[in-house]
Amino acid sequence: MLLIKEEKQIAREISRIRKLGKEINFVPTMGNLHAGHMSLVRKAKRNGAICLVSIFVNPLQFNEQIDFKNYPRSIKDDRMLLSINKTDILFLPNPSFISKNISNYQLGKESKKLCGIDRGGHFLGVASVILKFLKLIQPDNLYLGEKDFQQTIIINNLINDFNLKTRIKLLPTVRDSKGIAISSRNQFLKKKSTIQLLPETLKQIKREVENGGFRISKINSIKKILETKGIEKVNYLDILKEKDLAYLNNKCSKVRIFISATISGIRLIDNMGIDKDVMLSNGKVRICCKV
Ligand code: PAJ
Repeated sequence: MLLIKEEKQIAREISRIRKLGKEINFVPTMGNLHAGHMSLVRKAKRNGAICLVSIFVNPLQFNEQIDFKNYPRSIKDDRMLLSINKTDILFLPNPSFISKNISNYQLGKESKKLCGIDRGGHFLGVASVILKFLKLIQPDNLYLGEKDFQQTIIINNLINDFNLKTRIKLLPTVRDSKGIAISSRNQFLKKKSTIQLLPETLKQIKREVENGGFRISKINSIKKILETKGIEKVNYLDILKEKDLAYLNNKCSKVRIFISATISGIRLIDNMGIDKDVMLSNGKVRICCKV
């Protein structure tokens, strides 16, 4: 595995790979790698392309300086994992890699929903670092996880707005045996049973939608119940259209259930898709019947 820290060196390596006519598959991460990240790396490696992974804890996407400082860093273990999984290039930019957001870039309305409500500036920080990476690396494919579904929509818009050629490959969320979405933040929590409430809630709503319909007015009572079971705060629980995170209406669309909760001061997110198209009818989210 080639380890590169300098932008100039990565640019040289990219042009060398291009001359060989090889594809580049890019997996951006903030390190502290786990099974979720590794599922992306393994897929990126599959079709004989060059697999390039970056590890960079991006200061622009943190709301609090203290969270940036405390973000878990485990570079030695990360390097070992990537090496075992036959990563071709690990790009470890210097802290000076990015210092300010893209100027004059207007994020779409999707950035105002869900995590955008109380994480002001977060998605602009993500978009800024991703644009910097994409311009430098010009990958053929960009591997992202469904775990951060809203982030993927923001990045997809960015690619379209800047006319970039990179294609997004979106991969399913990797979960542990209890259904909990694997995340670097889980390790901060002692009681796993409370985190489990997130996927359980998503599954329960999904089941109700699929078995006769889910009454949308129940959302508020579900939030209240969760807050009596050890969850400090449910930041949001929403069923939204996958395409643009719009609220449901009487038209059939592909939708997803999104949740974010704070447990012992740690903010967690999860989401789950519903396999069939659904609509909102008489206050219930229901599967659309094909006629
Ligand atoms: P990070 O949280 O390290 O995640 C890197 C990638 O791994 C993202 O695409 C994320 O969706 C994916 N991922 C995380 N947990 C996963 C899981 N359990 N299953 C499947 N995929 C999972 O997301 C970021 O970093 C940053 O915002 C970044 C895009 C690197 C920009 O700084």
